[in-house]
Parts: sequence; C-alpha cells; structure tokens
Amino acid sequence: MHFNIKGLLARNGFFLDVKQPQIYVNLYTAFKKAILNRSLETGYQLPPSRVLANDLGISRSTVLKAIDLLLVENYITAKKGSGYFVRAPKNKKIKLNISAIEKKGGYPTLSQKGKAFSENATWLEGDSTKGVAFRPGLPPLDIFPVQIWKKLIDDYWKRITPSELSYCNTIGLECLRKNLAHYLKVYRNVHCHPDQIIITTGSLHSLYLVSNILLEAHDNIVVENPTYPMAYKLFKSLEVKIHAAQVDSEGLNLSKITCHKPKFVYTTPSCQYPTGIKMSMQRRYQLLKWAVKNETFIIEDDYNHEFSNWEKPLGSLYGMDTQERVIYLGTFNKLIHPSLRLGYMILPQQLVGPVSALYQQSSRFVSRQNQKAMSAFIEKDYLNKHLRKVIDTAKERKDFFVHHFNNTMSDFFSLDTSSEGLHLIAHNKVNMQDIYLEQKFAEHNIKVHALSNYYILPNNVNGLVMGFCSVNPKQIKETILKMSEIMEQLKG
Ligand SMILES: Cc1ncc(COP(=O)(O)O)c(C=O)c1O
Repeated sequence: MHFNIKGLLARNGFFLDVKQPQIYVNLYTAFKKAILNRSLETGYQLPPSRVLANDLGISRSTVLKAIDLLLVENYITAKKGSGYFVRAPKNKKIKLNISAIEKKGGYPTLSQKGKAFSENATWLEGDSTKGVAFRPGLPPLDIFPVQIWKKLIDDYWKRITPSELSYCNTIGLECLRKNLAHYLKVYRNVHCHPDQIIITTGSLHSLYLVSNILLEAHDNIVVENPTYPMAYKLFKSLEVKIHAAQVDSEGLNLSKITCHKPKFVYTTPSCQYPTGIKMSMQRRYQLLKWAVKNETFIIEDDYNHEFSNWEKPLGSLYGMDTQERVIYLGTFNKLIHPSLRLGYMILPQQLVGPVSALYQQSSRFVSRQNQKAMSAFIEKDYLNKHLRKVIDTAKERKDFFVHHFNNTMSDFFSLDTSSEGLHLIAHNKVNMQDIYLEQKFAEHNIKVHALSNYYILPNNVNGLVMGFCSVNPKQIKETILKMSEIMEQLKG
C-alpha cells in the first residue's frame, strides 16, 4: 500500500530546502521517526527509490543515501527483487498519546440519548472470532457454500456497469425484494408486495429503524420476559417504559398487561427467544385482537423461522393479520452467517415512507454486491439447498451435543432439549451463578450466555444458553470436555 508518503514524511519533519547541504540526513531522520512512532509498521514496503525521488522532488541518489543509512541501522531490510521493508525495533510499545495532549477549554456534552446508548452497551473483549463454540444462535458456519457464494460475487463483478457503482435505492434492490417476497410466500405464508420490504443489515437494524420512527421517550411498549437482550438494550436506550409480559407454555401472555396504548409489542412467536416456546394459535388470535383494541403494532421477530418451522410448520403472525398490525422482521444472518449482515422487514404501508426516510438519512443502503449475490442465491435455488443442509446438520449436531453434554455434564446441569432453535438451555444444578460461569468459560474462549441476563425483571433463574451447531462434532466434544474440566476445578 503506497499512501501519501510525502505527507507522512513531512509530518515527521522532512522538509525540502535546496540550500540544505544534507537532504538525505533529513530524509533518513524523518523515516526513522515514522518507524519509531509506528506510522510505518513492520513489513511496510517502501515505495521504489525512483518513485520516492519523484514524489519528493529530490534526486534518486539522495534517496539511496538515506536508504543506506536506514539499512545500516536496521530500520529497514532489503529483499532481493522486491524492495525495502520496514523493520521496527521490538519491545517499543505503541503509546497512545491522548492524555499527554494539553486540552484547552471544554467540549459539548453528550445528548441524553448518547448517554443512554453508552450506558447500555457491552463490548466483546478481545478477538470475537476466537472460540465460536457455544455462542447461541449461530448456524453451522463450516458448511456455508463458500465456492458458490464466491462464484455469485464473481458473476456480479463480471457484469458490473459503471452506473451500478453509484448509490442505490435505500429500501433495497428490486430483484432481491421480489425474490424475497416469493421466498416468504412459500416458506412463511407471508403475502406482501415487494415494495413493503426493506432490506437492512439485519433484524436489529430493522428494529432500530422502526423503534426510532415510532417511539418517543416515556412511551409504553410491551416486551416478552425473557427476551432478546440486544432488543431490550435498544429499548432502554430509547428511554421508553417497558412493560414485561410473562411467557408461559403457550407463549406471550398479555393477561397482566394494563398499560395504555403501547406503541408496540415486541415478540418472537415462532420460537420464543430464548425459551424456544411456540406461541399457540389461540394466543396468536388473542394478540392480534388485542393489538386492534389497543391501537398498537406487533413487531414479529421471526429470527429463527427456518429452523423452528421446519418439522411442524406454523405460519407467521404476519400471515394471520388482516389489519396491518404486524411489522415482520426477518434475517439471513442466522441462516447463512452473521457476518453477512443482510436482513429485511415487511412494513404496514404507512410506515414504509417514514422508516425509509430515517434509513436514507442514516446508513443509506446495504452493499449492492451482497444484495445481488443474495438475490441470485435465492433465485438459483441455492438457498433452498443450503437450508436443507443446514437443517440436517443442525439436527445431527443437536443429537451429538445432547449425548455428549448429558454424558459429561449431568452432575452440573440438566439440559432442556425441547427448543427448536439453534440453542439449548442447560439449567444449573450447582451452587454457582450463571453470570459467573459465563465469565469463567469466556476466559477459556468458550462462549455461553447466562440465562438470567435474558430476563428483564428480577429473577432467580440460573442456567446457560448454548448454541450447539456452529462448530463440527470434534470441536463440540472437545469443548464440552473442557467445560467439564472447568466445572470440576470451580467446584474445587
Ligand atoms: C431474537 C433475535 N432477534 C434478532 C437477532 C439479530 O439478528 P441480526 O444478526 O440479523 O441483527 C438475534 C440475534 O441473535 C436474535 O436472537
């Protein structure tokens, strides 16, 4: 990467003064400074001497003299036929010099929203790609058809026209919305017009957009208890009044909810998150009726429908709605892989304009390349094939996980195997809090989530939420074994 080396050298003290007798010393000093302060990292390839001389307006022999000095002092190495590479001295830690800056005067304060978002954030420590097992909600990542996806991306670039490199429609490419509308009709009994679909980076993004369009601070909303923690954080950051509705064996139970005209009910009817309970038909009708009576919307987060709906298909709430009450959130991040960042929502007509406007004025649109590839992935039936493979693999891995977990960990946990999601819940039998266990496992790069963190009211729940299929059987077995060793150690 040859960035503007002239600017970088100038910032490190190189200036051109034709009267100066030893320009090469000045150049050498600037390079040395840039290497020591890590502006030039180890491995960086210096531009060829001819290019440097040209860029800096000096002779090539002057550049070569500076290079000689850097070579002698080991700040760079020469590789035959390739050029010169930076070799920064070891053991010099990069110092972020922020505190050394003398700050003059004050700064604007954060908005109330800015403070609320910061307070509710949690950050992943270290490298999140280290240790995928047993993070909840991940599909079998190792069977993603990389070669097919690569081919679709290659096809996209082969046919690209210059105008396609420009901005595109905020709500998403028409081809993808049309293919998606068809896919949803077949798989979810969702009948919608492609123009009601908005392509986003995922369910959380969709929820953010809809919530910001509908909610004012102190508005009422109804949320399932337990619920998806990221959604809960978002609602808290928006400073709304959250009314927790209990989840029982039939799903969301609204019988104790008394708030006046909530703006919406946030629910996961096809596979309650994280309990895995399917909302009964009766509850679905009740909820739709309740929404009309209370003049509210229902946000149906169908994050898991491909899995929860496979064996015993149950349509979506959206498909039962005749009153435009349901806002439907879907995602490909769960079925394909979360780093794809591709999701969608289906909106009642009156929300399409305002939600698109917020979207346009914030993140504009999702990468055209991914949208095109996804559209072709659906159209060429790859999605269907992948879906079947994912379902079979997830089923096999669930059995494998359950077998090994019960064999190894039954002194510590009792595993609930009823959920049809991509995770299982293990209830804790030992006297150790789930939050503590989550931390202890994380120290060994094992990702499990504390069940109590999914509850939004004080609770005495104690268990672990674990994804069981993101890694292969060998890794599942090894990770469970490691977990049992950790449990033995903790037990003392
Ligand atoms: C219930 C639920 N909804 C939404 C999401 C977020 O999905 P996405 O990655 O598409 O934002 C998740 C992710 O774990 C989830 O569990």
